[in-house]
Amino acid sequence: EGIALELAAELLRSARRIVVFSGAGLSKASGIPTYRDADGLWMNKDALRFSHAEDLDRDPAGFSRFWAERLRVVEAARPNPGHLALAQLQRLRPATRLVTQNVDGLLSRAGAADVLELHGSLRRWRCDHCGNRRGPWLFQRCLRCGRRARPDVVMFGEMLNKGVLLDAQSAAQESDLFLLVGSTAVVYPAADLPQQALANGGQLVTLNAEPLALDHSATAVLHGKAEELLPRLVESLGRQVSGS
Ligand code: NAD
Ligand code: APR
Repeated sequence: EGIALELAAELLRSARRIVVFSGAGLSKASGIPTYRDADGLWMNKDALRFSHAEDLDRDPAGFSRFWAERLRVVEAARPNPGHLALAQLQRLRPATRLVTQNVDGLLSRAGAADVLELHGSLRRWRCDHCGNRRGPWLFQRCLRCGRRARPDVVMFGEMLNKGVLLDAQSAAQESDLFLLVGSTAVVYPAADLPQQALANGGQLVTLNAEPLALDHSATAVLHGKAEELLPRLVESLGRQVSGS
C-alpha cells in the first residue's frame, strides 16, 4: 500500500495537467450513499422508480418526494477530508480539473473551483419548459414561467449537458495524469473519460475501495478510502512544494 501511495505521489508531483475524476465513493464518508455498493442507492427500489426522465410525468408527487429527500441528505452533508484534499490539490496545482459524476455539490462546498458536474447538481433546479436554472431546488414551480421545476440532474435516459461533457473530454485528452476516485466507471459517457486520457498518453491512477477492471491500465492502484488516502497524497505534494 505504501509503495503504491509513494508512486502515486511521485506521479502527482511530476504531473503538469492533472484531471481528478470522481464518483459516489468520494462522498460516501459524507453520508451520501453510493449507487452500486451493497448499501447503494440502486438497492432501494424507490430510487430506480424515480431516476428515469419519464418518472417526472408518471408520478410527479412521488418524484418530488423522492428528490426532495435526496436534496435533504445532500444539504445535511458536509465535505469530507477527501473533498478538502482535492480543493487543496487545486490550490497547489491550479491547472487541475475536477470532473465529478456526483450531484451533491460537495467539491464546490469544499472550496474547489470550476468543478465539471457531468450529471448535474441536486443543488440547482431547472425548468424543462423555459430553461430557467437557479439555486437550490426548493420550489416545485419555475419562478419565471410557473411550470414544474426539477432537479438539474441527469436522469436515466437523458443526455448529459453537451458543454460540460466536451470540457471534460478535452480535459481528459490533454491530461498527463488522470486520477479516478471512488467510481465503478460503468456509466457512459462518463466512463469513457479514463480511456480518453490513456489513449492520449496520459497516466492513470485509480483510488477505489474495491478493485476495478481499469486497474490493469493504471500506473498506480490505490485500494482504500478516498477520505483517508487523498489527504495523504496531497499532503506529500504540499510538503514537496514547501520543501523545494
Ligand atoms: P446508461 O447506459 O443509461 O447511461 C447512458 C446515458 O448517458 C444515456 O441516458 C444517454 O442518454 C447518455 N449518453 C450516452 N452517450 C452520451 C453522449 N455521448 N453524450 C451525452 N449523453 C450520453 O447508464 P445509466 O447508469 O442508466 O445512467 C444514465 C444516465 O443518467 C447517466 O448519465 C447517469 O449518471 C444518469 N443518472 C443519474 C442519476 C443521479 O442520481 N445522478 C440517477 C440515474 C441515472
Ligand atoms: N473511498 C473510495 N472508494 C469508495 C468508497 C470510499 N470511501 N466507498 C465506496 N467506494 C467505491 C465503491 O467500491 C465503488 O466502486 O466507490 C465506487 C462507487 O461506485 P458507484 O456506486 O457505481 O458510483 P458511481 O461510479 O459514482 O456511479 C456512476 O451511475 O447511476 C449513475 O448517476 C449515477 O453518477 C452515478 C453513476
